[in-house]
Amino acid sequence: LLQVPPETMAKKYFDLYPDELDPVWLNPCLDKRHLEIWSTEKNCNQLPDFVVVGPQKTGTTALYWYLNMHPDVKSNLPSATTFEEVQFFSGKNYFKGLDWYMSYFPIPENNTILFEKSATYFDQAVVAKRLNALLPKKPVIAILLDPAKRAYSWYQHMRSHDDNTALQHSFYEVITAKREGSPQALISLQHRCLDPGFYAVHLDNWLEHLSAKQIIIVDGDTLKDNPVRAMQDLQEHLGFKSTIDYSKLLKYEKKKGFYCQILKSGKTKCLGKSKGRQYPEMDDQSMNYLRHYYSDANRKLLQMLQSINKPIPLWVLEQVNSQH
Ligand code: A3P
Repeated sequence: LLQVPPETMAKKYFDLYPDELDPVWLNPCLDKRHLEIWSTEKNCNQLPDFVVVGPQKTGTTALYWYLNMHPDVKSNLPSATTFEEVQFFSGKNYFKGLDWYMSYFPIPENNTILFEKSATYFDQAVVAKRLNALLPKKPVIAILLDPAKRAYSWYQHMRSHDDNTALQHSFYEVITAKREGSPQALISLQHRCLDPGFYAVHLDNWLEHLSAKQIIIVDGDTLKDNPVRAMQDLQEHLGFKSTIDYSKLLKYEKKKGFYCQILKSGKTKCLGKSKGRQYPEMDDQSMNYLRHYYSDANRKLLQMLQSINKPIPLWVLEQVNSQH
């Protein structure tokens, strides 16, 4: 029998099992052996009961804000670098471990429902497996907005962040740039505009790791135009013991063009300038291009939603019917 130091042993182990180099965090409270060696000062309830996964530019901040208006619901604490998003499951933060993630959540009281929102989760393939390992059976919420509108909103987002590529190129140039021969920055912007909108592809990945029951679809148009209805449906889907009437909390503000919060004083408070931006409508050429570009993807989305018995956003039906 050969005795070797732990480091040598570890090296040998990971040479044999390279797939295990990346950790996968599990909930210690769901395994008796883990629980026995876990500190008594730690609390397994300091983890989200559901997660809003995005994608970006579909109204995720509005949903986060609306959810926080519910007296029983509490979000993660803000991050110094990524603001309201912890972005644990998607990037380098995952390697900071479970304590790091849990430190972003308050210790819940009896009725408290905790949640997290990171809009970057939806289209990053690694997230579904990690999320379900730590939070098995917990609901995941995806907001689906017409991918053409989502792409344009992302482009406008980058322009207002003074992104040179977005400032130098029209939207049409960005979405139609040839992947071969175009500058890297232009291709990268094109990917960020277009790729998240292949909703069926991303949902397929989620369904590999989560049951269809866990996935809740919110229609981005309803969330924007009729948030009272969207929040009523969502509260029911999430099985909240006490549901609140958002018609008492939200009011359409003509000046902002979106729903805003009714304050106790009677005044309204809207999301900041970076949400619900003012910009020209998308040009017809880009819209037509994107209609064609996403036609297969939207058809697949319709089939997928039907096959897993999910409500179909009106825009999906409209897009698919207009193809006939
Ligand atoms: P625009 O600014 O392009 O209009 P996210 O929070 O995921 O980044 O999404 C931003 C989008 O949320 C906004 O995109 C806007 O259309 C939408 N939205 C939905 N409800 C809103 C609200 N009540 N206030 C502001 N924006 C809202």
